[in-house]
Amino acid sequence: MIRLVNTTGQRPRNLILIGFMGTGKTTIGKRVAKSLGFKFVDTDQLIVRKAGKSIPKIFEEDGEEAFRNLETEVLRECGGKSRQVISTGGGIVVRPENIAILKESGYVIWLKAGTDAIFERVSRNRNRPLLKTANPRQTIDELLKLRENLYDSAGHFSIRTDDLTMEETSFGVTECAKLALGLA
Ligand code: S3P
Repeated sequence: MIRLVNTTGQRPRNLILIGFMGTGKTTIGKRVAKSLGFKFVDTDQLIVRKAGKSIPKIFEEDGEEAFRNLETEVLRECGGKSRQVISTGGGIVVRPENIAILKESGYVIWLKAGTDAIFERVSRNRNRPLLKTANPRQTIDELLKLRENLYDSAGHFSIRTDDLTMEETSFGVTECAKLALGLA
């Protein structure tokens, strides 16, 4: 899945990172934004700011549907702007309308990782309501299977990150972004 050469005749406005929880979208997004001289935004942070409460609280008090509504709203808002690296929540691809907004808002890179690498990375953090289950490893496995095709259809390019350091992934994403956004 390589759609690096842009044939639309228009430069993408933004660089967008998608991928499962724990694939490093935020850490890598911040680094890449710095390298490109772009603003960094994170849809989860925008949601927290809009709702005035944490993600676990939104899920607990208002439910996942309310969270997904906010997610579409903030994606639409930031997607309309330019020269940003946008890091997204892992479930952004579950709504087909979001996939359309993603594609039209920028060049979309899918940060890929397998169950083992993800489990290892998310075990250190308790801020993810969807993984508060009896068997989080199994939940990751099941959600990944459900979402893999969605990430694939939303992304213009993908990078397998399991064995890469954050520095290596950031370098790959930056170089790819320069080409795709015409900044090289
Ligand atoms: C979610 C991923 C989270 C956050 C929310 C739901 C998901 O973002 O948006 O907890 O459905 O995968 P991260 O991918 O940044 O952890």
